[in-house]
Amino acid sequence: MTEKAKTPAHIAIILDGNGRWAKQRGLTRIKGHTRGADTVTEITQHCAKRKVKQLTFYTFSQENWKRPKLEIRFLMRLITKYLIKERKNIEENNIRLTAIGRIDGLPENVRKELAVSIEESKNNTGMVLCLALNYGGRSEIVDAAKKIAREVECGNMELEDVTEESFNDYLYMPNMPDPDLLIRTGGEIRISNFLLWEVSYTELWFTRTCWPDFSTKELDEAIKDYGSRERRFGGVIRG
Ligand code: IPE
Ligand code: IPE
Ligand code: MG
Repeated sequence: MTEKAKTPAHIAIILDGNGRWAKQRGLTRIKGHTRGADTVTEITQHCAKRKVKQLTFYTFSQENWKRPKLEIRFLMRLITKYLIKERKNIEENNIRLTAIGRIDGLPENVRKELAVSIEESKNNTGMVLCLALNYGGRSEIVDAAKKIAREVECGNMELEDVTEESFNDYLYMPNMPDPDLLIRTGGEIRISNFLLWEVSYTELWFTRTCWPDFSTKELDEAIKDYGSRERRFGGVIRG
C-alpha cells in the first residue's frame, strides 16, 4: 500500500508568473511570455536528461481566454513558433510530444503545427512531453463523462463497467500515469483547474520564483524534496 517516493516519473508544471516577472522589470507581459518559453525549453531538456518519463506543462488554460485579445493573440503565435523551433530538440532528445485539452478550440495555426510535431515525434521512445492547451480539469471530467454516457446509451458499455479505472480510458490521454510531482511557480498556492482528476495523490511543490527565473537547479531541489517524502496513499507505514 505504501511507497517511498524516489524520482518522480511524471512531473506536471503550472508555469506561472510570466506577467509579474516582466512587470518587476518594467517590461510588457509579452516579454515575460517570451522568456517563459525559453525556460520551457531548458527545463524540458533537463528532465529528458534526468530520465523523467513524462513532463506536462500547463501552457494555456480554458480560463486564459478571459485575457486581453492582444495577449491571447501573442500567446498563440508564441506557441506556434515554439512548436516549430522545438522540433530539433524534440528529435535530438528522443521526446514524444502529446497534447491534452480541447484542441479543436485552438486557432488553426496552432492545431496545424501541433499535429505536425505530434506526428513527427510519435515513434520516439524517450520522455513524453505533454502540453495542456485550452485545457480545463473540469472540462476533461465532463468530456469523459459524456463519452461514457454515449457508450452506455449505445449499449457498448454497462453502467456497472463505469469504474475509476475505466473512467481513465476516457480522459484526454488514456494511458497517462498520474503526476507524481506537481510544481507551481509564481507564488500562488492553487491548482487553477489543472489535472483535477489526476492529482488526487500527487505531491505538491510551490515556489515564489516566477517562471522565467525558474532554473534547473530549483527543479533539482524540487525533485530532491519529493525524494524525501513518504507517499502513503491512505495507508500506514509498517515497522
Ligand atoms: C503564466 O504566466 C503564463 C500563462 C498563464 C499562459 P501569467 O501570464 O499568468 O503571469 P502572471 O501570473 O500574470 O504573473
Ligand atoms: C494557470 O495560471 C494557467 C496556466 C499556467 C496556463 P493562471 O495565471 O491563469 O492562473 P490564475 O488565474 O492565477 O489562477
Ligand atoms: Mg498567472
